Amino acid sequence: MDERPYSPGLEGVLAGETSLGKVDGERGRLTYRGYPIEELVRAGTYAQVAELLWTGDWPASAHLPTAPLPESVLAALRALPPTSHPMDALRTTTSVWGAINRPGWPPTVDQARALTSLAPSALAAFARIRQGLEPIEPNDELELAAGFLYQLFGQMPDPAAARALDAYFITGAEHGFNASTFAARVITSTQSDIASAVCGAIGAMKGPLHGGAPSEVVNQLHEIGSVEHAEVWLDGALDRGERLMGFGHRVYRAYDPRAAALRHVAEGMAGIADWLKLAVAVEDMAQRKLKERHPDRPLFTNVEYYAAAVLQGVGLPPDLFPATFALSRHAGWTAHVLEQAAANRLIRPDVRYVGHAERSLPGVTANS
Ligand code: ACO
Repeated sequence: MDERPYSPGLEGVLAGETSLGKVDGERGRLTYRGYPIEELVRAGTYAQVAELLWTGDWPASAHLPTAPLPESVLAALRALPPTSHPMDALRTTTSVWGAINRPGWPPTVDQARALTSLAPSALAAFARIRQGLEPIEPNDELELAAGFLYQLFGQMPDPAAARALDAYFITGAEHGFNASTFAARVITSTQSDIASAVCGAIGAMKGPLHGGAPSEVVNQLHEIGSVEHAEVWLDGALDRGERLMGFGHRVYRAYDPRAAALRHVAEGMAGIADWLKLAVAVEDMAQRKLKERHPDRPLFTNVEYYAAAVLQGVGLPPDLFPATFALSRHAGWTAHVLEQAAANRLIRPDVRYVGHAERSLPGVTANS
């Protein structure tokens, strides 16, 4: 028996080094290349944050518009059934782009920019095609978040909504060795291309334990319905052993700093005041109840809780929430691809074998 330590889920295992994002779970702090997330949200744009992650420098200004879709990507999106999962549409887009462009090794910042700016156009196009509407060409003057809203709804976005979505994109851009980022790094470590790495990352993020929670936050609040009904609903859910969506985290043992930043953004948004009032009241009660039931395990609000408010506030349908999260994470995924490639070593850990001891096939004598 191999006696080396094994941590299920690799919890607490150091599996690499990065100078991109620092997630300080104990103190509830998150920084990108040393800059705190609150400052990045307050004073930066997603285009600046993406450049910071890719290059290490904070640009005084940056412009990152959405990209036009190649004909073959559009054809692939049109060929998908309208019932396809939006994450599958996004993954297909990346795969087709990779097949056409054949991005080489080592990956480049230009490739990272190309994929990050292609994804919002693709998701907006798919969302329209599935409703029988025609896709809309990018508007070069708009930044990524605003351009996405424009291509989705076919009209110039409200500047406050565009700013709120840009803030959401900043909070989603990077988060250490989460499952999708780790998947992207494993793929890159084989000297495979950046499109393959992002395809793998999208696949990992599609799972409900990673990218699926914000739409469930909306359902949860919809079911709770009113502040008066909240206590009975929360007790019922916890008594049945259910998880409260938007609470708890593998790394944070404090309030998720991204939730705090997004709550602030949501408070400034028009049209969701009633929803937000309910969300804040339910949050207070939920945190109290989680503390009573798990006195030894700090369980606080996570990013998904107020992400749901912002995404709903800008008018996105809940089934686009996970794929919109994926749009925001493109900067981080591709920055990790570049970082992995720059000091590459094949990622190939060991596994503890727990199967049969060596034996012979039925009817075969050993060493005969
Ligand atoms: N509601 C109720 N109880 C919870 C919650 C929750 N949201 N989260 C954790 N717990 C309890 C568990 O029941 C468990 O209790 P037990 O020890 O008595 O069995 C204990 O806290 C530890 O939970 P684990 O599942 O071991 O924690 P883990 O680190 O594996 O899970 C996770 C983290 C998946 C985020 C979990 O907290 C969860 O399911 N939350 C709800 C879903 C959610 O909001 N996901 C979005 C996460 S943010 C992101 O991925 C971007």
